[in-house]
Amino acid sequence: MEKYIVNGGNPLYGDVEISGMKNAALPILIASILTREKCTIENLPKISDVKKTLDILTAMGAVVNDLGNGAVEIDSANVRGGISPYSLVSKMRGSTYLIGAELACFGHAKVGWPGGCDFGQRPIDQHIKGFEALGASVEIDTDEGFIYADADNGLHGNSVYFDVVSVGATINVMIAAVLAKGKTVIDNAAREPHIVDLANFFNTCGAKITGAGTSVIKIQGVEKLHGCTYAIIPDMIEAGTYMAAVAAAGGKINVKGIIPKHMESVSAKLEEMGMTVTEYDDSITIAKTKELKKIHIKTLPYPGFPTDMHPQLTAVLVCARGESKVSEGVWENRFRYVDELLKMGADIRVEGSSARIIGVGSLEGATVKAVDLRGGAAMIIAALAAKGETVITDIMSIERGYDDIVGKLTKLGASIRIEND
Ligand code: UD1
Repeated sequence: MEKYIVNGGNPLYGDVEISGMKNAALPILIASILTREKCTIENLPKISDVKKTLDILTAMGAVVNDLGNGAVEIDSANVRGGISPYSLVSKMRGSTYLIGAELACFGHAKVGWPGGCDFGQRPIDQHIKGFEALGASVEIDTDEGFIYADADNGLHGNSVYFDVVSVGATINVMIAAVLAKGKTVIDNAAREPHIVDLANFFNTCGAKITGAGTSVIKIQGVEKLHGCTYAIIPDMIEAGTYMAAVAAAGGKINVKGIIPKHMESVSAKLEEMGMTVTEYDDSITIAKTKELKKIHIKTLPYPGFPTDMHPQLTAVLVCARGESKVSEGVWENRFRYVDELLKMGADIRVEGSSARIIGVGSLEGATVKAVDLRGGAAMIIAALAAKGETVITDIMSIERGYDDIVGKLTKLGASIRIEND
């Protein structure tokens, strides 16, 4: 079992280049099979979730060629449905998109129950509502852990209103609808940048999607898509994580290769804390020049403050002056990482869907666990600010979503290394 060893106390200086966005890469890789042609996907992050997705597609009959430098060519001419390996699918949330993709390609789907981070209940009722509106019937075999979907008469465009704003359901119904007969209108759609990225990918392949990035997405079904070359957008959560790391550890860094507009809610909160943030065309400079102040954060769907940045900001607020509050507006249980921060001397009280964070000034190194992907990132951030050595176990959760985090932080001056037990 590998673990990270972090020695805190080094401020961070220099440039960090941001990789492609995990949560855009997974749906776009899966969506590429709808073309049944060759697609070249560029700017993929080197993370284990991307590798698993490519392994799933290969097991389904795709021919995947690694072109180097974060690009792969996927030939999906011979892809078959219903055979995605349960052992891989059940480890990732993004694998839910196989349901929409198999329905679109073959009119039926059989996919193992998806895994991913444990934030309490992660229902897929809105995905199912959308598939049913397009004419599919869906059954969940809870004993075997499979989801079956059938559209014997093909998929037909329809109106879909989501009762909750769901990134996954929006993406899945978009995937199912691009090749459906007629027009689909998704109302109360999620507006995240990765939804726009998926729409841009599909449109480059010949789809007719408008409105992505707003709460109403219109999809005029087309008969066929064609292959294309497409570069994934930069990962706003990875960028935000490095910005939070500077807030905790001190220093001044340039976060490069990003879309600053995507960072607005994170930048605003870091500025409110007292960080100096300067925006350029495709980068942000962030510096710590004074002691951090308490703030209140509420996570919401985009363009609200992202839930996937909440644990990292909690780790920063532990070191701020005064009492801060973080309220979780997306997931019912995203505070499992708090127990780990307590081991480092944090004072955090979780009350329902909120946490009160009483600034303690400094943390002590300890042995802590990466309970999930962003909770793991929070451990690294806390460790960079802590006195002494922190050992972070279960790092495979972190490696699911961060491309070379050890190399990038080391380049910025952090003391972090991987060790084997
Ligand atoms: C995606 C991200 C995850 C992020 C989340 C919110 C991926 C692989 N994961 O997860 O990192 O935290 O978006 O930005 O992209 N819900 C329902 N019914 C549904 C679907 C969702 O009630 O059918 C609820 C969920 O319980 C949650 C909320 O809607 O409370 C948002 O979930 P959703 O946006 O779907 O998250 P994911 O797509 O699973």
